[in-house]
Amino acid sequence: MHTINLPRIGTDKAWRDAARLHLSLGSTPESLLWQFDTPDQNDLFAGTAPPPARPSQQITLPKEAVSLLTKVVWHADPERFAAAYRFLWRLRDRSSLIRDSADPDLIRLRGMEKNVRRCAHKMKAFVRFRDIAPGTQGRRRFAGWFEPTHHTVEPTAPFFARRFADMDWMIVTPDVTAIFDNGRLSFAPGQSKPDLPEDGAEELWGTYFCNIFNPARVKISAMTSEMPRKYWKNMPEARHIPDLIAGAEKRVKEMAETAPTLPPLRAAAVKRSLPEGRDLPDRAALLAKAAEANKTVPDGYGRIILGEGPCPAQLMVVGEQPGDMEDREGRPFVGPAGQMFDQTARRAGLDRDAAYVTNAVKRFRYTMRGKRRLHHPPDRGDIQHGKWWLDYEIALTRPKLILAMGGTAAEALTGSRQGLMKRRGMVEETLYGPVLLTLHPAYILRLPDRDRQAEAQDWFRDDLTEAARAIS
Ligand code: URA
Repeated sequence: MHTINLPRIGTDKAWRDAARLHLSLGSTPESLLWQFDTPDQNDLFAGTAPPPARPSQQITLPKEAVSLLTKVVWHADPERFAAAYRFLWRLRDRSSLIRDSADPDLIRLRGMEKNVRRCAHKMKAFVRFRDIAPGTQGRRRFAGWFEPTHHTVEPTAPFFARRFADMDWMIVTPDVTAIFDNGRLSFAPGQSKPDLPEDGAEELWGTYFCNIFNPARVKISAMTSEMPRKYWKNMPEARHIPDLIAGAEKRVKEMAETAPTLPPLRAAAVKRSLPEGRDLPDRAALLAKAAEANKTVPDGYGRIILGEGPCPAQLMVVGEQPGDMEDREGRPFVGPAGQMFDQTARRAGLDRDAAYVTNAVKRFRYTMRGKRRLHHPPDRGDIQHGKWWLDYEIALTRPKLILAMGGTAAEALTGSRQGLMKRRGMVEETLYGPVLLTLHPAYILRLPDRDRQAEAQDWFRDDLTEAARAIS
């Protein structure tokens, strides 16, 4: 039996080096004992056999496996290193194992990867910095205390370094401390909770939080799933939550009693948005119009496919344009992007069947490659063509909220082509009423980098959760 002691800081690299070495030496998983941050590494396992000095074989690991396992090592499960090594060991003889979604070892590791990713996501959202005295270089200095579930400080710190590059900061956790000083990131051992000074901005932040809290939309389970209670104690705004929840019913009653008697602005806007001089047809009439228009389909385009779902509906979901499968089936969002939307919506507590789902552009635009019809991005003319139909759909659906997925939907509904990345997750007031912007599921599916894809998936889920909350 050989014992490997891994350090708390730089665990990923140490694990990777040790795993490579032992794989090349042919060390079986049973012959290795993985230890993490043992207090006295020299004494604790004295007498265990050291590995032979020279590897017998060079091992090349699939990139995807390296990426998965270097995340798994940040999990809190004491078994993680052994589980990761066992998987590598099996992978030597069967490289396709990394794609075997039914393999129990891979399922376990993917589960750990997901936990780590979610923990990193929560850390990015919930670390609260306090302003402390300026440093020697005159840069502003901040410190925050956080208690992560997994060992996510080290892999997440580069995100904070990019975001807060112009200041010095420190994130203290019981596990590891991340220090960003004059543009240099380093790590030190964890500490107990420091006594951080009061921050004047905190009161302001609390007031803002209380003001954006909508008592009519309180959904405690969705709220605690997004912002688990265990983080509350280190978030200054969270101290207001119990009072806000307790007073919600009373405030909703007061709001109803003092509601304006004029018709809502949105109703007026929808009316204005109707194609001039036209009576509002019912849905059957609109479908009949589409069927009539579909008698002549131009080259390079599919037929007009309208949305589906209840009319009226609280929520309207607007995508880009139908794809090849949607064109064949005559329904929106039934292909891979649709499946991803359905899956994420379920997780976010959003019922697709209760929403009206449609597209900004009504026809599949494609170019032929051999026998295949490949997606061709819509241009302004296509958006203009779709607008007539979309206006009618909105007028019939009268949604409380429109969810715009992707740049084309955002442009059609807000008139702005500004970068979606900066606007996603936010509600913009438009002629059609509030429009919540988010990424397009097909864009997420196409992201080649697994980490960026996972991050985009988290954002997408957050946005759908917000949509569910907004219409509840
Ligand atoms: N992508 C879209 O934007 N809409 C669909 O209906 C399918 C894929």
